[in-house]
Amino acid sequence: MDVSPFIKKEESSPIYLQLYHYFREQIESGRLASEAKLPSIRQLSQTLNISKNTVELAYQQLVAEGYIEGKDKKGYFVLKLDPFDFKHEPDLISSDASKNKELQKEKTFIDFHYGNIELSRFPIKSWKKCLIDALNDPNQEVYSYGNRQGHKGLREEIAKYLFQARGVQCSANQIILTAGTQLAIQLLCQLLSLRNTKVAMENPGYDEVRRIFESQHCEIVPISLEEDGIHMEELEKVSASCAYVTPSHQFPMGMVLPIHKRIKLLQWAQKHSSYIIEDDYDSEFRYQGQPIPSLKSLDTNGNVIYLGTFSKSFLPAARVSYVVLPDDLMKRFQAEFSFYNQSVSPLIQEALFLFMRNGHFSRHIRKMRTIYQAKQKVLLEAIDKFLTGVTVIGQKAGLHLLLECGKVDARKLLKQAETLGVKIYLTEQYWLGASPHSNQSIIMGYGGLTEEEIKIGIQKLAMALKQAGRPSKFIQE
Ligand SMILES: Cc1ncc(COP(=O)(O)O)c(C=O)c1O
Repeated sequence: MDVSPFIKKEESSPIYLQLYHYFREQIESGRLASEAKLPSIRQLSQTLNISKNTVELAYQQLVAEGYIEGKDKKGYFVLKLDPFDFKHEPDLISSDASKNKELQKEKTFIDFHYGNIELSRFPIKSWKKCLIDALNDPNQEVYSYGNRQGHKGLREEIAKYLFQARGVQCSANQIILTAGTQLAIQLLCQLLSLRNTKVAMENPGYDEVRRIFESQHCEIVPISLEEDGIHMEELEKVSASCAYVTPSHQFPMGMVLPIHKRIKLLQWAQKHSSYIIEDDYDSEFRYQGQPIPSLKSLDTNGNVIYLGTFSKSFLPAARVSYVVLPDDLMKRFQAEFSFYNQSVSPLIQEALFLFMRNGHFSRHIRKMRTIYQAKQKVLLEAIDKFLTGVTVIGQKAGLHLLLECGKVDARKLLKQAETLGVKIYLTEQYWLGASPHSNQSIIMGYGGLTEEEIKIGIQKLAMALKQAGRPSKFIQE
């Protein structure tokens, strides 16, 4: 194949990214057709006089985003792109007209609820096929309890995905599937014997996880946040059994922990012989900045326990999350806790395995990243146009951002917004101890809203903001 990427070695952008963008552009424009073979890594590195690692990195990124696939000993091939009009693929919601009307009736609110995802672009046809294929599984394994750690093939797919997308090197044997992150935390409480021990958590932090630690009689040590994430000096004074963190998109504040702090976190764990629980819940959707390696990929001492979920990247209703354990902990799990039955339905596991193996998952992520990024752009533009005196926080990744509304009482704003048909949410439940009550920030999830709803929602919020005691740029009432 004749490709001639134009690489500028003197440019600040890394060469692997230049290569990656070149191929991405070629594929998206159709100049590189589906099934076309890419030059081999060796060939391209010789032609461009760059290292094989650089080419490999670019190819790995393309694989992770579903543009190309590697075939055993044959090389890399362009994958078929999903067309963006889904005429052939009925919407998840509109497939049933009467139900749709009911939902429309209920949906009188523009709801910025965190946790909602875009359903109308969900690849329902492919997912249905995977579910039916799972039901037709010739071995009928899906009709039993299933492997206690989780479906082997699915764990292998997850391990491959984690390496390509997050640089995590692990084997399928280090992965345990759980029906949700809370169950993963509960299991870790037992596995690490956390009862009556100190657990450090970012403050504010994910309340759903904090409640599990509390119910397991852990003593939560809240660690405050700086503009770039967890306050390391504060943590360094604490000796805790483990620290639960969300470094790739702090929940709820949204900052991305810079590399120097990631290294300090690892040093802290090493010094105190502690574990770090890295919750990487929405890292698939990153819109700004270069990828920062996951903590797990930087961990050379086996201190990091990695948590992942399909709730954002795929479907919360699937209830599939997973834990990646360091080897010693896996041995302990196998010796002491392997009596637990697997909590995720074997049918769902098999279907998800097929969905991943057949390339639907990586295509879905790539598609959703574009969709969510476009929604976020609309949201940011609307905020900029209609809201004055507000500060946006945490927009580098994920499906939500925060709005700080200065001196406006957030509770009052919430009530005003509700009278205008817009639901926004406070952040007070994420704080341990005193939360900044009156001027606390509000959390805005945009994953489940259309671009139109986002625009209208923000215009109404401008009115609410005005009524709650703050001027806005909104002129019409
Ligand atoms: C910080 C955080 N971790 C994990 C999850 C995912 O939880 P689960 O896997 O139980 O759906 C979420 C979802 O909202 C989250 O906000």
